[in-house]
Amino acid sequence: MASSSIVKLNAASSSWIAGRQSFNQRPGSAGPLRSRRVSVIRAGSYTDELLKTAKSIASPGRGILAIDESNATCGKRLASIGLDNTETNRQAYRQLLLTTPGLGDYISGAILFEETLYQSTTDGKKFVDCLRDENIVPGIKVDKGLVPLPGSNNESWCQGLDGLASRSAEYYKQGARFAKWRTVVSIPCGPSALAVKEAAWGLARYAAISQDNGLVPIVEPEILLDGDHSIERTLEVAERVWSEVFYYLAENNVVFEGILLKPSMVTPGAEHKEKASPETIAKYTLTMLKRRVPPAVPGIMFLSGGQSEVEATLNLNAMNKSPNPWHVSFSYARALQNTVLKTWQGRPENLEAAQKSLLVRAKANSLAQLGKYSAEGESEEAKKGMFVKGYTY
Ligand code: 13P
Repeated sequence: MASSSIVKLNAASSSWIAGRQSFNQRPGSAGPLRSRRVSVIRAGSYTDELLKTAKSIASPGRGILAIDESNATCGKRLASIGLDNTETNRQAYRQLLLTTPGLGDYISGAILFEETLYQSTTDGKKFVDCLRDENIVPGIKVDKGLVPLPGSNNESWCQGLDGLASRSAEYYKQGARFAKWRTVVSIPCGPSALAVKEAAWGLARYAAISQDNGLVPIVEPEILLDGDHSIERTLEVAERVWSEVFYYLAENNVVFEGILLKPSMVTPGAEHKEKASPETIAKYTLTMLKRRVPPAVPGIMFLSGGQSEVEATLNLNAMNKSPNPWHVSFSYARALQNTVLKTWQGRPENLEAAQKSLLVRAKANSLAQLGKYSAEGESEEAKKGMFVKGYTY
């Protein structure tokens, strides 16, 4: 316990929790207010481990490989190269990615779908062990996807809280040490106050449950690229969303030192008339984060959201040109996988070349994490945008 650098709620101050409950029931009453203490957070049995896991993922020059596509979404990836969506093909693709030699030099964590967490290579080595051998932390997508949010403006909410504690405990036993929950906010659809509140509350409940079960939660309210709005409008919505997310994270006594964030970058809508430069995107995104994210949070791991591979890398690089209060890095799916898929084409003879192309992208983003990337020599394929209107994950 002494190793941890955070102030914890100890036995002597545990009345704070009880006081807080009655405080909520009796607003303004003097008793509970007096027992309310500041600067303390809940001490869970996994707190030290959560801090270590988060720190290891947020280590210099490394970021996250997101390959947690649901079976349906993985099917879309495979269809793009003419492969059927079978378990064997999904395993072959994930094996290609997870057995890339030297991946751990640039990748600190890999988010898996449930099927992959329990899968092995064709030689019988668990994927989780392939990751551990490269010093990569295995992670797991725990949300159950998006469904329409009744009473909203055609918006959605994210399911998955039922049974989450027991699922998380099982995932921990299987080797997962961090989790991901992706919900979305749509600018063209509003966003309505209801949708933002629901997204923030769901993320906070998920984060508290994950921490209770030893998993570092990645908090991901994706603000979709869809729309023709300006970058200023994205900034306004992002500030609103993150302020609610942190409000509810605090309400749920989530340990900020043991979470990671996965924000969208602050950009104009995909259909906006003008494109923004990496420097502008970096300026707006960092302004938003500095206004909303406490420095206790160890890492900001961006999603790519349909940007091209090169765009996502250039934007990350621009954000790391000067020091930040947190580790600013990547957790890309599309922006790490596009060239790999195109190179592989499902053919065994292309496997080595495909793994090399994964290393090229991983290294480029590693350099961008350090603010040392240059786009010179990048392939045309890597410059192709991947935005899909109404994309589901
Ligand atoms: P993209 O980088 O493709 O936007 O991935 C988002 C995501 O949540 C993957 O875990």
